[in-house]
Amino acid sequence: MPELSLILFGPPGAGKGTQADRLRIDFRLPFISTGDMLRNNVKDNTELGLEARKFMDAGDLVPDELILAMVGERLKEPDSEDGFILDGFPRTYEQALALDQLLSERGRRITAAILVDVPDEAVVRRLSGRRVCVKAGHNYHVDFDPPKHDAVCDQDGSRLIQRDDDKPDVVRNRLMVYHSQTEPLISYYDEQGVMRRIDGTRSPDEVHDHIRAVIATLRLEDDV
Ligand code: AP5
Repeated sequence: MPELSLILFGPPGAGKGTQADRLRIDFRLPFISTGDMLRNNVKDNTELGLEARKFMDAGDLVPDELILAMVGERLKEPDSEDGFILDGFPRTYEQALALDQLLSERGRRITAAILVDVPDEAVVRRLSGRRVCVKAGHNYHVDFDPPKHDAVCDQDGSRLIQRDDDKPDVVRNRLMVYHSQTEPLISYYDEQGVMRRIDGTRSPDEVHDHIRAVIATLRLEDDV
């Protein structure tokens, strides 16, 4: 099976985590989310978590050096030798350049950067209604994807809460940060010929089908 090194990116609330839950079942590729890794560090009160929290609570990016050290360690683990799906990384030019460097040292390159695209007004609607479970971070939405029982996770029975960074003023800042620091990566990956765009305004099932079709095509192209 050819190696697939994929990046899943897009604005906050585009549905990356929702798709991650589905894709990790479909593909035997490790799913590496820098947001989840940081939240686990915050939960465990690690040094990194304590440092990262102030940036996350404000909706700002955690400094590149902290992120690069964390991701560099993660990509050394044996499960990512045959490929990976990265979610929420890279988010700056510096991170993108560092990732390219790290991969080229191993004779590898990014197979595709998959952009899940959603306009700002939909992001605000999605994040204001998002609920996540305290145990594993499973995602719900009060209107678009409600749990079967109010405020209880369908998958593990734990309590559902609203994320601290889903408050309206923090969401506005996250969107601003996305447009100024992460969106420019679209042209970076376009120039490399690896950008694939997905319409994230469609239903979660349709977005999932589209991403699966893109990945299946990439696998076929690599087989040829
Ligand atoms: P991170 O956790 O990566 O947050 P994000 O990119 O802002 O993305 P979200 O998790 O908010 O949204 P999502 O796209 O996963 O959407 P979801 O599926 O939940 O990062 C958090 C923070 O960590 C950052 O702000 C930063 O501080 C720091 N950080 C992380 N990585 C970093 C890095 N590389 N460098 C520096 N700092 C970093 O969906 C949202 C809602 O919409 C849910 O309720 C869901 O049910 C609903 N929904 C999903 N899909 C659909 C659909 N198709 N239709 C209708 N509703 C939908």
